[in-house]
Amino acid sequence: MERKVKIGIIGLGQRGMATVERYFAIHDAEIIAVSDLLEQNTERARQLLLRHGRTNISVHYGEHSWRSLCQNPEIDLVLICTDWSSHTRMAVNAMQQGKDVAIEVPAATSVEECWQLVHTTHDTGRRCTMLENCCYDTFHLGIMQMKAQGLFGEINYCEGAYIHDLRSDQGWMSYTVSDHMGNPYPTHGLGPACQLLDINQTDHLVSLVSMSATNKINNSLIRTAQGRSILLQFDERTPRPYSRMQTLCATKAYVQKYPLPTLQIDGEPLLTGKDAERRVESYHDAQTRQLIEEGRRLEVPNLMNYIMDRRLIAAVLHGKPFDISVYDAALWSSVTELSARSVQQGSKPVDIPDFTQSN
Ligand SMILES: NC(=O)c1ccc[n+]([C@@H]2O[C@H](COP(=O)([O-])OP(=O)(O)OC[C@H]3O[C@@H](n4cnc5c(N)ncnc54)[C@H](O)[C@@H]3O)[C@@H](O)[C@H]2O)c1
Repeated sequence: MERKVKIGIIGLGQRGMATVERYFAIHDAEIIAVSDLLEQNTERARQLLLRHGRTNISVHYGEHSWRSLCQNPEIDLVLICTDWSSHTRMAVNAMQQGKDVAIEVPAATSVEECWQLVHTTHDTGRRCTMLENCCYDTFHLGIMQMKAQGLFGEINYCEGAYIHDLRSDQGWMSYTVSDHMGNPYPTHGLGPACQLLDINQTDHLVSLVSMSATNKINNSLIRTAQGRSILLQFDERTPRPYSRMQTLCATKAYVQKYPLPTLQIDGEPLLTGKDAERRVESYHDAQTRQLIEEGRRLEVPNLMNYIMDRRLIAAVLHGKPFDISVYDAALWSSVTELSARSVQQGSKPVDIPDFTQSN
């Protein structure tokens, strides 16, 4: 019989329930345990799983019930889909109970929590990743292949962002964001930029300066050890159309995804819109192509989530490294605190720790 990764999921709100739905399409994984603060949420998840023929779900509700989920010896992987404040606490405990963990974004809210994640992977030998789905954007995956083939020359500068008009949102995220001085949600923009610059591999982030306008638009400028830079934006409070920028400037090319997909390679005609997308996506490797075809056949609502989930489960099943390491999760998440610190100090430069040097 095919081996399946057994999953326990904590947090069954908007993202958690969508995650439960998503995993019906993942043939080599099954959710066997669910946890939420509220019984009505665990019941909703249990009913959904039941409608898909999943009986014997282990159900845990109440504030501390997630701890008993983490003790379930059958679980291989714990998915954490709660609000930001509890991510690290839950991940640390799950790893101490012998589980691999995948945490929704951001994985942590302070530098101290980022270190806790790194140290716990070392202490327990378990693995921790962050569910940064924007790293699986099909445009980004094509760009990564073009970069690997040397089509851009040297990439010297990237832009990333989370620009999403959420003014009508009244949930915990809007309260947390309004109390935050810097960029509280950096990873959607920063993750793809760091992958393009080989951060935590051949280059490292070393410092940032950050500035917030009164309407909470935040701009952070990040410098790397090799003198390259990233502009990272956060704006949830203006009518600006959705954007993650996904922009790079290289010695031989300029590429952006938002607002208009654009590809300019030296000596070639400028491509925009669908032409740029088609060209970029023609570079997908065989595995990405296969996952996209599968996702389309299964009519999944969002291909980047499908690619992320399939690759995560394959890594757990075959003991392969996670695409996004604990060092990436820690580094990208640390900008929540570091950007706020720079803003509080009048936009002074703030050092960024190297989480790969953790002894
Ligand atoms: N990657 C993406 O595109 C994306 C999109 C949306 C949300 N998210 C992330 O997903 C996470 C959840 O966001 P959301 O919008 O679903 O929030 P939500 O408020 O809808 O859901 C959070 C859930 O966690 C539960 N919870 C809180 N404390 C708990 C505890 N101690 N034990 C068990 N359950 C507990 C709550 O009861 C709630 O049901 C956040 O990190 C958010 O940033 C990511």
